[in-house]
Amino acid sequence: MKKINIKNDQLQIYKRENSNLWQLKIKLPKKKAIRISSGTKILIEAKKIGIQKYNHLLNNEIKKIQIDKTYFYKKIHLIESENLNKKEIECFLDTSNKYIEFNKKRIKKSNILEGRTVFNLFFEDSTRTRTSFEVAAKRLGADLINVAVKDSSINKGETLLDTMTTINSMSPDVIILRHPEEGISKKISKIVKSSVINAGDGSHEHPTQALLDALTIRKKFKKFKGLKIAICGDILHSRVARSNIEILSTLGASINIIGPKSLIPLDLKRKKLNIYYNMKKGLKNCDIVMMLRIQKERIVGTHILNEKEYFNQYGLDYKKLSYAKKNAFVMHPGPMNRGVEIETNLADDISRSLIQEQVTMGVAIRMACLEILVNNRDKYGS
Ligand code: MLT
Repeated sequence: MKKINIKNDQLQIYKRENSNLWQLKIKLPKKKAIRISSGTKILIEAKKIGIQKYNHLLNNEIKKIQIDKTYFYKKIHLIESENLNKKEIECFLDTSNKYIEFNKKRIKKSNILEGRTVFNLFFEDSTRTRTSFEVAAKRLGADLINVAVKDSSINKGETLLDTMTTINSMSPDVIILRHPEEGISKKISKIVKSSVINAGDGSHEHPTQALLDALTIRKKFKKFKGLKIAICGDILHSRVARSNIEILSTLGASINIIGPKSLIPLDLKRKKLNIYYNMKKGLKNCDIVMMLRIQKERIVGTHILNEKEYFNQYGLDYKKLSYAKKNAFVMHPGPMNRGVEIETNLADDISRSLIQEQVTMGVAIRMACLEILVNNRDKYGS
């Protein structure tokens, strides 16, 4: 059989006047024309429909996030929880609300921080905090640079100050800093021109962790007044505990501190906190039990129980949880030492554990922090 190649002008696709249907006409030389009605709107028409539909979908999903830009929090850095008042804390929590919804969308991209540069500078290990800042910055449209500290010139003897000066010369908008030295974020915030977020400075503070914990609690209980929250474990070395004590008590919750004597700092006695060395007594009537990781990397010269003894006395399992209120919830900032601070089944029991929700709230709160600090810096200068 002879092979026939149809040329471009031998095939036409057209639409008759007053018709919605597309016609396909093939006319080969010396042959009768073949006409086929598409029976449906195709090609250009379909393309138009596709584009309209897609844009419609997209516009619905990327609804412009409304930002007010007048925040109760007026500073350009977020370094510690200690000096935050109730309204300032609420400003972060309220600003996060729209991001909780935004983060449920299929397309999670906005241009609020388009053209802004955010540096993640982590001198200590981190999974949750570093990645959630990265997700937050990217969802807001910022350019995020993860400085690979392990591969940086710090290893060639460069001082932290030199590193910060170098990064400062690249005109970042926000530097997110985690470092083992207490108070370092504050010092750095005085040197660089960008906003600085303290993502953990030694045993001192970790304000965004406490804000995300507060957001998780507010979402569940809708209030803080009247809530009893137990913070348990290695309080002495925990920046999470310090920041949470400040933020949750400022918001009106009552705090029970529970742990072995050797892991409870003496300066806590000055604050209006209830201190217990026994889980049964300390958990009584608590609505929330917040467990902490034993910070092995910071424990020097302090006697601690071996892991088995620790779990028996202070590790949270269903039995110890039953000392708290009937439907009390469990929290943990992560990373968890399963079987040491918390029983593994309980940690994964989503009817009692808010641990996964804390991670979800972490992205929303960090989006709010970035939005607030960048806009404050635009307004009030560096
Ligand atoms: C931190 O970096 O402080 C974490 O979020 C909690 C921990 O390391 O135990």
